[in-house]
Amino acid sequence: MKIVILTGSGISAESGIPTFRGSDGLWNGFKVEDVATPEGFKKNKQLVLDFYNSRRKDVKSVVPNDAHFAIAKLQNSGLHDVTLITQNVDDLHERAGSKNVLHMHGSLANALCSHCGEVFPANEVMMVEDACAECGEKTVRPDIVWFGEIPYYMDEIDYKLRDADIFVSIGTSGNVYPAAGFVRIAKKKKAKTVELNLEPTGGYHDFSERKIGLATKVVPEWVDDILKM
Ligand code: OAD
Repeated sequence: MKIVILTGSGISAESGIPTFRGSDGLWNGFKVEDVATPEGFKKNKQLVLDFYNSRRKDVKSVVPNDAHFAIAKLQNSGLHDVTLITQNVDDLHERAGSKNVLHMHGSLANALCSHCGEVFPANEVMMVEDACAECGEKTVRPDIVWFGEIPYYMDEIDYKLRDADIFVSIGTSGNVYPAAGFVRIAKKKKAKTVELNLEPTGGYHDFSERKIGLATKVVPEWVDDILKM
């Protein structure tokens, strides 16, 4: 079967990384426009770098959980064609053993030069005066897709969604497009659509199946069911 999985911050919550919109969410205490837009970066580079430096440090101190491991197990079983798309900028899928993770919102592990477009490993603590590894210009930013920017891999994702037998959305609130619209693309092309989340989201009518609960419980259960098919 062709399975397309979309993950959001809910899958990393039990590893100790806060979600964005939860009560102790990452956006609490920060204005999205200050830390997650090109305009915010132009206005105060240090504030934005500090925000992502802190996220990078937090990610280093946590480990993948059973939901990340279950997805890696499914991918590595070789029994199905699994495409893994994540909105997360952490590397917990990779550390659990997943390959070819499509980080549509970028990655904390990388820096991006806005002058020449080079992407290279980010310093643990990025500084305003960092120079690009390729062109030497001091135009380096976190390789994070900010609001108003186009997410990565959109052509590949669109192709995979239209070809999917099953689309599974895990730990995402469905607040941010284009990811929030993936379920409808897959459904239109007759994929079975499954939501695995702590609570039902606004896309209620778009999912044909729903398992409500902690990701560390419902994801391994769902994977085991698929592996038995
Ligand atoms: P949200 O904070 O919007 O949603 C997290 C979802 O995870 C919610 O629906 C929670 O109910 C669910 N959740 C929380 N804990 C869970 C658990 N233990 N098990 C299962 N589900 C759980 O975060 P995202 O949907 O990931 O973009 O946010 C999408 C994008 O918005 C992010 O990638 C980020 C943000 O703005 C950018 O920064 C570009």
